[in-house]
Amino acid sequence: MKVINVAIDGPAGAGKSTIAKAASRQLGYIYIDTGALYRTVGLNALRKGIDIQNDAAVAGTLTDELSVELKFVDGEQRMFLCGEDVSAAIRTPEASMAASRVSAVPEVRKYLFDLQKNLAKTNNCIMDGRDIGTVVLPEADVKIFLTASPEARALRRHKELIEKGMETPYEEVLADMIKRDYDDSHRAIAPLKQADDAVLCDTSKLTLEESITLVIDTIKSKI
Ligand code: DC
Repeated sequence: MKVINVAIDGPAGAGKSTIAKAASRQLGYIYIDTGALYRTVGLNALRKGIDIQNDAAVAGTLTDELSVELKFVDGEQRMFLCGEDVSAAIRTPEASMAASRVSAVPEVRKYLFDLQKNLAKTNNCIMDGRDIGTVVLPEADVKIFLTASPEARALRRHKELIEKGMETPYEEVLADMIKRDYDDSHRAIAPLKQADDAVLCDTSKLTLEESITLVIDTIKSKI
């Protein structure tokens, strides 16, 4: 039976993981969050106490002893670092920063490439990330570039922060969003970029429910 692969890429704060998770549940596909892989490699680098600004030092953490595994427990993706479940530990602000840094190191991208390819080979899946449609799964059956204006994404992020009791000014959230967009799309290796054959889904003016419907309808129209 042919395996269906859906690639969803887009900038930070576009709602990729929430939307991809809901869409995969409805379609009966597995959802693969590739950012979690970079986060796990980043966490390992932090724990090793190396200088994560140093590319060679980061590449040096990719030894035979390193084991990064992605497993599904009750249908949910969980990350294991050398056998330890680090699914919660990779969500701290420090791990986010480390993930962003190590994701710019070519050896790290190469290290995680086969893992992502193999997961897609054997499973109907929606895989989300930054370079899935362009680098990891250029042959994906459906490619979606999910985005929203920086202002819409910053507004959503600002609301989430307030709900968590963090009073960051909206202007600061917006400035961070614009900087991250710039960094992600201007890095030398695998920059964030819409694949030529990706469908653009702009959720700036859509609710979450409408965004999920748009993504599911787009997938169904292509398979
Ligand atoms: O989606 P996220 O925030 O969990 O991703 C963590 C970091 O990993 C982020 O800085 C971008 C990077 N990343 C990447 O370079 N390529 C991917 N396919 C997924 C994430």
